[in-house]
Amino acid sequence: MDKRRILILGGTAEARDLAGVLAGRADLAVTLSLAGRTLDPAPQPVPVRTGGFGGAFGLAAYLEKEAIDLLIDATHPFARQISANARAASAATGVPLLRVERLGWEAAEGDRWTRVASMAGAVAALGEAPRRVFLAIGRQEAKAFDAAPQHHYLVRSVDPVDPPLDACDVQYLLARGPFAVEAEVALLREHRIDIVVSKNSGGEATYGKIVAARILGLPVVLVERAETQDLHHAGTVEDAVRLADHLVGSSRKRGV
Ligand SMILES: NC(=O)c1ccc[n+]([C@@H]2O[C@H](COP(=O)([O-])OP(=O)(O)OC[C@H]3O[C@@H](n4cnc5c(N)ncnc54)[C@H](OP(=O)(O)O)[C@@H]3O)[C@@H](O)[C@H]2O)c1
Repeated sequence: MDKRRILILGGTAEARDLAGVLAGRADLAVTLSLAGRTLDPAPQPVPVRTGGFGGAFGLAAYLEKEAIDLLIDATHPFARQISANARAASAATGVPLLRVERLGWEAAEGDRWTRVASMAGAVAALGEAPRRVFLAIGRQEAKAFDAAPQHHYLVRSVDPVDPPLDACDVQYLLARGPFAVEAEVALLREHRIDIVVSKNSGGEATYGKIVAARILGLPVVLVERAETQDLHHAGTVEDAVRLADHLVGSSRKRGV
């Protein structure tokens, strides 16, 4: 039997989990694609290809060359470029696209959130007066906070922020989630943090800081994600498996 070929755009726990489920299927050949940003990526359950494709055209060319039957975009909710490229490449090639995106966090009682639409909005939300900021947004957009050098920053990321921030009062912490609530409470206390900046990433792995801020009564500046516009959309790995079966089946019928 010809195996149906699936390309998963990854870099998230969901992509790894989904690959793990699909890896057990004899009728599928699954490849996981990583951007190659992380110096020491976590092990993956299926064959991995690494590095950019060269924009939407490059991705479309890859889909055709590798005779991919289904493209699954399971990248991070804030990885906007690759998701736009996935939509364009799917439209150009006719390869069906499934978006797998975990739900965002919803405020609970005691949360003191300021929701903003961008990193620039998060910088502005910190205000003029110097504050002790826990910057837990990853390293790629940390430089936006050069615009507010009056604050103290505790910056946590998987890989080093390079070049470093312009602000002179900055501490860097290298760590990879998941992060437990108790440890997050201790971290915020130890560094006398008075405000947290986070993306609304959703999921469990990085939710600990949100709960810790709630416990300590601290405000959180939450950068919201852009609205998704994908036709086939799954919020969980289980939904993704069901939809992937459906889409692989319909692409077989069309003979694509
Ligand atoms: N942004 C976040 O907060 C965040 C958090 C956790 C994990 N991640 C993961 O880290 C990776 C990079 O995120 P980003 O925000 O830099 O993405 P991005 O801005 O949307 O993508 C920038 C470029 O990186 C390449 N790329 C991104 N994801 C790729 C993938 N899975 N496979 C192959 N190439 C990929 C593409 O290059 P070409 O145009 O050359 O194809 C893309 O145009 C993503 O895989 C994402 O899932 C991101």
